[in-house]
Amino acid sequence: MKLVLVTLCLLASAWALTTAQQHMLVVLRPTTSTQVEILRNATENDYDLDFWTHPNLEGNTLIRMPVTRFGQLRQEWAKVGLQATVRHENLEQRVKQMQEEDEHYRQINPWSATTYKTSLTHNVYRDYNSVINVVRSLENQYPSLLRFDDTASTPFRPKTLENRPIHYFEVGAISNAPVIFMEVNIHAREWVTAAANLYTIDWLLSNYGSNNDATWLLNNFRIVNIPIANPDGYDFSHLNQNNRYWRKNRRSCGAGSFGVDLNRNFDYQWGGTGSSSTCTSDSYRGASAASEPETQAIRTLFQYFESSAAMYLSVHAFSQVILLPWTYSTQSNAYNTWHQTAGNSMAAAMTSVEGRYHYAATAISAIGYTASGSTLDWALARRAGSNQNFLALAYELRPASSNNIADFNIPASNIVPAGKELLASLVVVARAYADRISG
Ligand SMILES: *[C@@H]1O[C@H](CO)[C@@H](O)[C@H](O)[C@H]1NC(C)=O
Ligand SMILES: [Zn+2]
Repeated sequence: MKLVLVTLCLLASAWALTTAQQHMLVVLRPTTSTQVEILRNATENDYDLDFWTHPNLEGNTLIRMPVTRFGQLRQEWAKVGLQATVRHENLEQRVKQMQEEDEHYRQINPWSATTYKTSLTHNVYRDYNSVINVVRSLENQYPSLLRFDDTASTPFRPKTLENRPIHYFEVGAISNAPVIFMEVNIHAREWVTAAANLYTIDWLLSNYGSNNDATWLLNNFRIVNIPIANPDGYDFSHLNQNNRYWRKNRRSCGAGSFGVDLNRNFDYQWGGTGSSSTCTSDSYRGASAASEPETQAIRTLFQYFESSAAMYLSVHAFSQVILLPWTYSTQSNAYNTWHQTAGNSMAAAMTSVEGRYHYAATAISAIGYTASGSTLDWALARRAGSNQNFLALAYELRPASSNNIADFNIPASNIVPAGKELLASLVVVARAYADRISG
């Protein structure tokens, strides 16, 4: 099996408060188990260090850190034979620079809806209001296919700590079809996930009736979609370049500390390994299980559709993998063979979109660590007992950890390719599910 590096997006990572200080991206290449252990210990103990990949023997470890910490850490690591190299010495400046480059890219490549067969433009990262506005515009354009939560039949009106409504919508032509439940961008900084999701939904709507995949999918499934599962964190990460790498929600813990990792806050195996009890950690699990309004919103919504649920898809970035549950434990689950089969076909479909970006399906256990309190485990635990075909899977979209642009901040020119990869996998997993239940 090809071993892959997975970002700590679903997994443990840590960094301290957002301050205006400068951060750098450092690359290490551990080659002994002691070196790996030293780095893994740091993922749990040193909240200044934001691990973008899990330390292992298979590849590079990427760490975002305050520049003020680098000199001393480099010396400590050098003593155990670990050479640290700086990939980007000023990440905040890089964020600004990429925004300028994206602007230039849009000027010289104006969006063509005809070429892409979409209703919206997909060359820009939108803030929360803009995402919601374009979903509403899709509802106006395709009223028989898209139901925004204002018009859907559910009594679902949750709000975040900062009073933003947590919206969802439903897409599909048949009102009682099986549900593909999609939770997107629960980690604020993973912007490409929201953008790729919008492309996917737009493309399905725009090509319904003229493309076989679009027509088949929307005639056989309902997609229940939370386009931004963490609106406060998402908007915070859009405020300025210093906030670009914010991951959690905006819960105040006092003493100037903020944020619960919503993907550690769910009420199944809450509080276990791969989550932290410390608010300054980037994998802080919260004061109690399901303590956060966003968690409660996702829970209420999923439970509302649960009896029809075919699958739960949690969309993250980056690493180019499909992750299989359990995430809390290194044990495989009773449904693991089916998850692996489905994950493999999704990864293959994603790889074949451009043919040069490799995706793989893997359990977290295969890379030796855990994340408890995740949405994935919670959904599987709730639903798998009554639907043995139920799938709970997480995406880590572009880029690959081994790529030179490995970052949560990637050029907007990646939105369409990432969207095509997400779309291809969605069609494939829906067909695999339909084939399986029809025997
Ligand atoms: C890692 O942490 C554990 C537990 O605190 C400790 O026993 C071990 O010595 C540490 N390993 C290294 C290589 O520092
Ligand atoms: Zn994530």
